[in-house]
Amino acid sequence: MAHCFITRELPGNSLDRLRAAGHTVDQWEPSEPPSAEDLKARTESADGLLCLLTDQVTAELVDSSPRLTVVSTMAVGVDHIDLVACAQHGIAVGNTPGVLTDATADLTMALLLALARRIPEGVEAVRNGSWTTWDPSGLLGMELRDRTLGIVGGGRIGKAVAQRAEGFGMKVLMSGRAGGPNPGLPLVELLKQADIVSLHCPLTPETEHLVNREFLGQMQNHALLINTSRGRVVDQVALANALHDGQIGGAGLDVTDPEPLPADDPLLAAPNLVVIPHLGSATVRTREAMAEIAVANLLAGLEGHKLPHQVT
Ligand code: GLV
Repeated sequence: MAHCFITRELPGNSLDRLRAAGHTVDQWEPSEPPSAEDLKARTESADGLLCLLTDQVTAELVDSSPRLTVVSTMAVGVDHIDLVACAQHGIAVGNTPGVLTDATADLTMALLLALARRIPEGVEAVRNGSWTTWDPSGLLGMELRDRTLGIVGGGRIGKAVAQRAEGFGMKVLMSGRAGGPNPGLPLVELLKQADIVSLHCPLTPETEHLVNREFLGQMQNHALLINTSRGRVVDQVALANALHDGQIGGAGLDVTDPEPLPADDPLLAAPNLVVIPHLGSATVRTREAMAEIAVANLLAGLEGHKLPHQVT
């Protein structure tokens, strides 16, 4: 029977399936992730690793884990896993696509609306007593009907955001993989036309700091940037400058680099910025479904089968 290391407590009772199959389960109990040293020490003797996006599965970790046959992450993004090192060691890698599409698309709209309609500022004004009367010119924001949403990354989540935006009467442009409403649309065209730009691409060497000074300079001055993909897609120094200089109208971030941002990070001092703590998939239904899939991937790998959601 196999030995598995699970790097955190998981929602639901999906781990029962591992135990019922006779595997031994070593589970990290603290609410903070294991350090690189702890991860290495606990994975060394494991046949299977079930990890989160907060765990870095490096070539060094893989080298020091001779029994490892499967790495299953409870995430759709696999930028925290060295896929080349895993392939070289014949280790199967699984992720949890699909089940978090709706939750992430909903959260994208929530962030977009919060920023466009200045909800965090309103909440703060009510709490601190600075809201004293209904004001014809108070906290005016951006209305969505007839606005143009530019989606960067035409995968599952990008398309689900497009559907929702169309429900709000927005015009949608999409740049990225073919299959969107306007495949092949040059990014620069999207940036010029969009009132809101939303990022839905994976983090890869090509997309790292895709949102840099030049990208932000091509956006309209009133335009908003939403990021629910990965923090490193955005060059945060360039973003802070663009917000301070009024080069763009605002930014809503569910993801940052690092996570969490230190309280004194200069980005947090920028105006018109809403930052939330990586909540894209954070619904009860989605997190339980992610845990189920992550365990199904792990079990399949331990039994030498192709994973239900195998990353190639
Ligand atoms: C969340 O960001 C994920 O990749 O699952």
